[in-house]
Amino acid sequence: MDDLRGVRVLLGVSGGIAAYKAALLARLLVGAGAEVDPVLTAGARRFLGAATLEGITGRHVREDVWDGIAQDTHVALGRAADVAIVYPATAHTLARLAHGLADDLLTTTLLAATCPLIVCPAMHTEMWEHPATQANVEVLRGRGVTVLGPAVGPLMGGDAGPGRVVEPDEAHAAVRAAATSTRSDGPLAGRHVVVTAGGTREAIDPVRFLGNRSSGRMGFALAAVAAGRGARVTLIAAPSELPTPEGVRRVDVVSARDMHAAVHEVLDEADVVVKAAAVADFRPASAAASKLKKADGTPAIELVANPDILAELGAQRGSDDTPVLVGFAAETDDVEANGRAKLAAKGADVLVVNDVASSDAGFEVETNRVVILERDGARTDVPLASKADVAARILDVVGHRLTALDAHHGGSSG
Ligand code: CTP
Repeated sequence: MDDLRGVRVLLGVSGGIAAYKAALLARLLVGAGAEVDPVLTAGARRFLGAATLEGITGRHVREDVWDGIAQDTHVALGRAADVAIVYPATAHTLARLAHGLADDLLTTTLLAATCPLIVCPAMHTEMWEHPATQANVEVLRGRGVTVLGPAVGPLMGGDAGPGRVVEPDEAHAAVRAAATSTRSDGPLAGRHVVVTAGGTREAIDPVRFLGNRSSGRMGFALAAVAAGRGARVTLIAAPSELPTPEGVRRVDVVSARDMHAAVHEVLDEADVVVKAAAVADFRPASAAASKLKKADGTPAIELVANPDILAELGAQRGSDDTPVLVGFAAETDDVEANGRAKLAAKGADVLVVNDVASSDAGFEVETNRVVILERDGARTDVPLASKADVAARILDVVGHRLTALDAHHGGSSG
């Protein structure tokens, strides 16, 4: 995948044990076609040899601010960067960035850079939760810096908690999203993308509902990546704890019928509808007005069918094939055959088939392994990847379809 061809990435590495992962990130970025300029802090050089990064990126690793003074190294590097990422970012480096310090090559370069900046914090939980660090992070966020992570998990010295640097593939996806957002000419720029996410809840009584295990993560990742690519995004979300991605308009809904109404509200101006939500197929025929009591005996709950939102959109769509319709299928066996049948039955353009039988993909996990099926028979396999990465691959396919539709209709509908 050459999704970063022509993109120049400034890779800042600060001094934490996770610095070794910067080598993996550098390899992913280079593999995607990026030109990577690594800049190491003094601490990072103690954890990771500059020779490793030099070998991977094929570029001279600048040692300090006095290296290449005649070429104004820091200004040149800062200006040339399309995206900058600090991976990992220590508490000290976050503090230096928040306060605008310029005491080494990394911080001077970042002061000279005007491109999007991503920081990936890595430190012990206590340091991350310290009010000083949290205040610094708020300052950076307020300045438009993307703070990615930290992830939760084992830390150095046998501890565990929030503080791990995010995995290299997640950082790679963030670099890609940032690079695409600065390229305002992509096929999603200016389009209205409607994403539904999460699992609907169907009321039994005022306190109980029928629900499902969908967390909403896939839909939220799609909304975030689409917004990063310059789309106007409406995220129609069934109950979810997840924060609203930056630049996304969120409409909260509860039941399948609420979601149905919310989709129809925005349908007229939608260029793309992505149905990542797990919509309940059935709901209780009537919700009890007051809480069902045990003393009244075991209730028999009669179910009635909910509207199939995607199938309805597929059937109602006009001959111009807009909006582009993307559905999801959660399958446990015969993944491709069931997926193809569902793609046809729903009248969608794209169906993302999710193998929910495997434990590392599907519901309630950070990663997904999917197959993207298209109406004309195309198939794209996405191996195990973060949901942000999977979202990027799905939106690549959507982008191609938008471009093809434009060509077919003889111009952009903008
Ligand atoms: N979908 C929908 N409305 C419904 C049910 C599903 O819009 N009432 C959408 C989902 O958002 C998803 C796609 O249809 O994009 C497929 O959902 P899935 O649950 O896999 O399929 P079902 O149609 O429910 O089929 P089945 O449960 O029989 O496999």
